[in-house]
Amino acid sequence: MPKPTKTIDAKSADLAPFVQDDSDQYLTTDQGLRINDDQNSLKGGERGPSLLEDFILREKITHFDHERIPERVVHARGSAAHGYFQVYESQAHLTKAAFLQDPSAKTPVFVRFSTVAGSRGSSDLARDVRGFAVKFYTSEGNYDLVGNNMPVFFIQDAVKFPDLIHAVKPEPHNEIPQAASAHDTFWDFISLMPESMHMIMWVMSDRAIPRSFRMMEGFGVHTFRFITADGKSSFVKFHWKPLLGVHSVVWNEALKISGQDPDFHRRDLWQAIEDGDFPEWEFGVQIVDDEDEHNFDFDLLDPTKLIPEELVPVQRIGKMVLNRNPDNFFAETEQVAYHAGHVVPGIDFTNDPLLQGRLFSYTDTQLIRLGGPNFHEIPINRSISPVHNNQRDGSMRQVLNKGRVSYAPNTLGGGCPMQSGADMGGFVSYLETINAHKIRGKTEKFFDHFSQAAMFFKSQAGWEQEHIVKALQFELGKVETQGIRVRMVGLLNHIDVSLASRVAQGLGCAVPKTLTLPLNMSVPADANPDDYQPSPVPKSVGMSAALSMANQRSDGIKTRKIAILAADGVDETALNAIQKALVKAGAQSKIIAPRGGTLTGRAGSELQIDHSLLTTSSVLFDAVYIPGGAKSVAALLSEAQATHFINEAYKHCKTIAATDEGRELVEASHAGANPVGEQEKDPGIVLGAGTKMTNIAAEFMEAIARHRHWSREKNPSGPA
Ligand code: HEM
Repeated sequence: MPKPTKTIDAKSADLAPFVQDDSDQYLTTDQGLRINDDQNSLKGGERGPSLLEDFILREKITHFDHERIPERVVHARGSAAHGYFQVYESQAHLTKAAFLQDPSAKTPVFVRFSTVAGSRGSSDLARDVRGFAVKFYTSEGNYDLVGNNMPVFFIQDAVKFPDLIHAVKPEPHNEIPQAASAHDTFWDFISLMPESMHMIMWVMSDRAIPRSFRMMEGFGVHTFRFITADGKSSFVKFHWKPLLGVHSVVWNEALKISGQDPDFHRRDLWQAIEDGDFPEWEFGVQIVDDEDEHNFDFDLLDPTKLIPEELVPVQRIGKMVLNRNPDNFFAETEQVAYHAGHVVPGIDFTNDPLLQGRLFSYTDTQLIRLGGPNFHEIPINRSISPVHNNQRDGSMRQVLNKGRVSYAPNTLGGGCPMQSGADMGGFVSYLETINAHKIRGKTEKFFDHFSQAAMFFKSQAGWEQEHIVKALQFELGKVETQGIRVRMVGLLNHIDVSLASRVAQGLGCAVPKTLTLPLNMSVPADANPDDYQPSPVPKSVGMSAALSMANQRSDGIKTRKIAILAADGVDETALNAIQKALVKAGAQSKIIAPRGGTLTGRAGSELQIDHSLLTTSSVLFDAVYIPGGAKSVAALLSEAQATHFINEAYKHCKTIAATDEGRELVEASHAGANPVGEQEKDPGIVLGAGTKMTNIAAEFMEAIARHRHWSREKNPSGPA
């Protein structure tokens, strides 16, 4: 399939006047004055004091002093890219949204991926939800789909959001730990919030440690509304399905990547786009007719529930391609302001109580983060459809509004700017009937906290379940207060008895027979907690295939990174053959040697080394290949780091291939010494002769396409 090409879309054209290239330009002050000496401050004599008069020094230092702005209160760490969205065919039968009508139109997008809990400088590989925020610059104004890589959320009501975030952030007395949920305050809160159990299953699964932003699903989480031109409404859940499949790393690997390359995801996204491997997602919708609103065993307004794809299939209606890196991280990625309330005609909200709170929160926080009410004028936030209103003034106002009129109605301005009718693109809120008591409460279905958590756990492959157990053992093992651990195990017991007992076994505690506290503490003060106890609900869907990553693999090896271990004397014919096959399949290979520079192959050719064993690690790669060449392999055998590289790749269930003498290195490692079983061939270990490179390459690539070889985890002992 031909790769999409870079095009100048409407948003890039809009940004162009603000993009500055300093090459071939003279250095100036902010006032445009050319600077003669940027090396010395103005002093009274060569050894004298600096003079207050030095406006050049003062301007430079003052600007520097103010370079930082508050980081986002959540989702502080992120990376973003430009691209476009294109609908496959008109969705006029579902929505009048202009960007979902014309298959020939490309709508520019700016997409920011993020972690939630950590600070701006924290590691990409924290166990966490990932933000997946898409700004569509549509002809009708900006539409922001501010979602996550998990389809549900921890809490049901916005009023609990500050509590959730206070609990997960570093503890306030000592600001420890950074970007980690494995601490007492988080689990104290969670153990008292049974509504979070479904989300806990997702966050303890490998979905919380993605292999790449490019290999994550995205979800709008809440139920939204689509509205047609005739005013017909339907409920909609939004999905992003990555064309590279859904893949993750393993926890031990995540911990090591955090040290080896904390920018792992940021670098991966940036590099893929620089290489022309443009990340792609299909846009999916689950549609529920208005009449069917109450035909589910959960409430559509409850953000801790998903709609199983078995009940409502995901229709893939378009594709998003990210094809351009930002020119400036701060100006674009840091200053972009998404808002769940930025909608266009044809898309509307539901009364999901979490969504309703979000509709307030984003503008409010951006007022302080971006320093005033004019952040919509920052180039990355500007709509490409014209903006005209009577909003005026405020900090850093850019637009020079002409004339004396800044109010409506008016005659002096000819009545402008004018309101538009719905037929001219004017936004009209959905005419929802509301006839209710004013109440702090929720419907009974909101109190089923365990059925979908159980569905998620049951739907996982064996290795996925094991990873959830291990994650809970790790997280709760870091909790110091025994009562919190026990309460959590008690809650897990409501999800799955074997899950609870396996976690309890790792913690060295027993599964409590009863819970000492009411399961749901968030009840009104004067209510009877017994009325709020969750009870199991018979479910129409017990298992859902779409929830397991094991069912979401892609077939190819496009953009996968393969390490080739080599030293002087390597069999360059075999090495070149593998490299050629990998490149043809869209993968990348890097030569790793005991030192940097170049190496000389067995037949005398010179090869560029990409990394030395000192500067990289197996955790940054998807697979390893060791070509033959007696001298090369002897040199690698004498390097403990080389064997460690293979041991670690083996431990993380990655594909390992070797030809001729290269096999000796595999045999010297745990991968050779301790295969999965005497009888069982490990499909992730491909050994052969250099004379059969075509077969070896094919087998190697087929094994890499399986992502990982989980059967090894049945026998996990070994070094690394
Ligand atoms: C009541 C619940 C929530 C509140 C009050 C809330 C609040 C916030 C705030 C204050 C920010 C920082 C925004 C900024 O500084 O620009 C933020 C960012 C974000 N939130 Fe929420 N949030 C809530 C729930 C959610 C949920 C359920 C999702 C997912 C569906 C979500 C997804 C995001 C994303 C992706 C970002 C990062 C946007 C970016 O990349 O700049 N939030 N949220």
